[in-house]
Amino acid sequence: MRDHIKINRRSIRTDLDFVPYFPFPPLLAEEKMSKLLVVFGATGQQGGSVVETVLNDPQLSSEYRIRTLTRDPSKPAAQKLAQKGVEVLQADLDDVASLERLFRGANAVFAVTETVHDEQTKARDYARGKALVDAASAAGVEFYIYSTLPAITKISNNRFKHGEHFDVKAEVEDYIRSLPIRSAFVSPGSFMQNFLGMMVPVPVGDGTFAVSSVVTPETRLPMLDAAADMGKFVAPMLLDPAKYQGRVVHAATKLYSMNEIVKVMSDKSGKVVKYNQLPVNVFKSFMPPLVADRVVDMMLYIQDFGCWGPETEKILAASVAEAHGEPTTLEEFFDKHGVHLQSGP
Ligand SMILES: NC(=O)c1ccc[n+]([C@@H]2O[C@H](COP(=O)([O-])OP(=O)(O)OC[C@H]3O[C@@H](n4cnc5c(N)ncnc54)[C@H](OP(=O)(O)O)[C@@H]3O)[C@@H](O)[C@H]2O)c1
Repeated sequence: MRDHIKINRRSIRTDLDFVPYFPFPPLLAEEKMSKLLVVFGATGQQGGSVVETVLNDPQLSSEYRIRTLTRDPSKPAAQKLAQKGVEVLQADLDDVASLERLFRGANAVFAVTETVHDEQTKARDYARGKALVDAASAAGVEFYIYSTLPAITKISNNRFKHGEHFDVKAEVEDYIRSLPIRSAFVSPGSFMQNFLGMMVPVPVGDGTFAVSSVVTPETRLPMLDAAADMGKFVAPMLLDPAKYQGRVVHAATKLYSMNEIVKVMSDKSGKVVKYNQLPVNVFKSFMPPLVADRVVDMMLYIQDFGCWGPETEKILAASVAEAHGEPTTLEEFFDKHGVHLQSGP
């Protein structure tokens, strides 16, 4: 980094040549912010967290200025970014020709792509993931951080073949590793935000509530407050790219069993929230078939293999120990957002 700054100084500030090089002379503000970080998904949870972390960290905010993109710059999340001094460009990931301009002058990238569940999920996400890193490579980006996920089909030795929304992220990770660009990966756990939406407790008719899935009550999920904490796992990478080159950081606070999750919900809501393990065929009947197959395989994979394999607890603890600040506990998450309970039928 020092070398980079020194080179910039010599090329653009010849009047500083007489300043003794050691101890390091003070840098002008515009020299310090000489690096450009491009953040994808900045109007969403993961990318939004990365932006907030960089803006609020004294070292990162003095080193990096931030460029983001959105399909709709008029949306409130995009406006808020602009008000904070973040560059906001209007762009669509699927417009490959527009990608070159996003990476122009960029030093580092945080890339995440959204999962859209339909017949094209895998093809679309692979095409987006590949197009992004190809354009970043062509533009000479020095460091590429990608939000990945484990290869469910491969790790389960073909037992769970429908987790293609996970598999595709692992395939993009493999592709990125094949390119001559410095890269690092962050693999997020299950989002705490899921319990405010798709996994919200539903009333069962007797005044109690239930969270339902196909896994045993003892199955443990690595839980992440994606909107608050993703940046805590990405910041160490931006601070020391060489250290993280080729590594996967696992992003979550800790493992919570389904029983532990509903206990926290009960304690925080004052209502009885139970975990309800449903037979696979019953669970599937509540969802469109394509999504049901994917969710069931994803959950059973986590039950049988652990989200990141048999060493999940250990590797998560190692990532948390390196994180840039304490990640949010489930208790703190519900204190902040409240426990959302679906209203009666
Ligand atoms: N839910 C979980 O438990 C979980 C766990 C692990 C991983 N994940 C993964 O997390 C990813 C989603 O991340 P997130 O929750 O942080 O996202 P999010 O909050 O849903 O936000 C999506 C972001 O993607 C941007 N985006 C979507 N389509 C775009 C396009 N065509 N062009 C440009 N930008 C586009 C959106 O920008 P604009 O709308 O402003 O254009 C927005 O910033 C998914 O891939 C999912 O598989 C989820």
